[in-house]
Amino acid sequence: MKALVLAGGAGTRLRPITHTSAKQLVPVANKPVLFYGLEAIAAAGVREVGMVVGDTHEEIESAVGDGSAFGLEVTYLRQDAPLGLAHAVLIARDYLGDDDFVMYLGDNFIVGGIETLVDRFRAERPAAQIMLTRVADPRQFGVAELDARGRVVALEEKPIEPKSDLALVGVYLFTPDVHDAVASLKPSWRGELEITDAIQWLIDQDRRVESSVISGYWKDTGNVTDMLEVNRLVLDGLERGLHGVIGDECEIIGRVVVETGAEVVRSRVVGPVVIGAGAVVRDSYVGPYTSVAENCQIVDSEIEYSILLRRASIIGVRRIEASLIGHDVEVTPAPNTPRAHRLVLGDHSKVQISS
Ligand code: G1P
Repeated sequence: MKALVLAGGAGTRLRPITHTSAKQLVPVANKPVLFYGLEAIAAAGVREVGMVVGDTHEEIESAVGDGSAFGLEVTYLRQDAPLGLAHAVLIARDYLGDDDFVMYLGDNFIVGGIETLVDRFRAERPAAQIMLTRVADPRQFGVAELDARGRVVALEEKPIEPKSDLALVGVYLFTPDVHDAVASLKPSWRGELEITDAIQWLIDQDRRVESSVISGYWKDTGNVTDMLEVNRLVLDGLERGLHGVIGDECEIIGRVVVETGAEVVRSRVVGPVVIGAGAVVRDSYVGPYTSVAENCQIVDSEIEYSILLRRASIIGVRRIEASLIGHDVEVTPAPNTPRAHRLVLGDHSKVQISS
């Protein structure tokens, strides 16, 4: 069995973070979302991974390399334009050969991995096995309609009037039957070859399509609330580990990870919190569910329930909550006179100011 990991696409919903970063590399608890997927694939006993990449291929390649860090053998497959998930299967045809495969969307996050699903697929080998989850707004997903016995009868991509709240999760298992389906597709209204249509084709041909409903799922929605929530979920599983330098006048409470090369001085840190290598926390408070990436600086500040990307600095600011702060961002106080906000914000930034 092989894996096909999709790591292309523009990530418009996660702007401005994705102006400078591939959406699959957005960190959750200081680790790119894509890495959780690769770990889940390795844990399910799959070794060979075809990684479909687009415009951000250099960034993905430099983060993942040959995959050996994950115990995987990664082959990069270039998709010239984001023409759909089924298009990715089409261009991977030679790589996949006649193997079964798990297709994993690199921007999806599944709590609890995929081992059970892969085991079930290996035992039953339906033409396709899909995962579903209940979502608040099904219109931004592929949506499944089930019959009274729970079998999938129809699938619809981004429906205006969804027939259920069961969204297709971005992990699919296929036998080589899917290649016949993909070969028969025409582009959808959004100009893409939809994997949803390929699975519908299999249903129409009376091939077996199995589904299971899961919870603990997240997909980028451009919604900071969701990102903070998934960060919270992952941090909840953290184990305390103080590897960096902790000064004398510090209070480090609960599940806090301070990576090697990080420094905490005269500060109070209440976990779950992760502080990345090279980060400095001085004269500050860092509260629960905060991920501080490598080489950040938090000085004379208070922050809680937030995500800081690499090299962000917060100096003299209290208090920051429920925030997502990008790479190399600097947050500092404005001068007192006149009392005014001074902002230099990139395109698509979102700011909420309390004044
Ligand atoms: C794709 C699929 C959709 C699925 C979603 C899950 O959507 O087309 O059926 O529900 O992934 O992440 P897209 O990311 O192309 O909007």
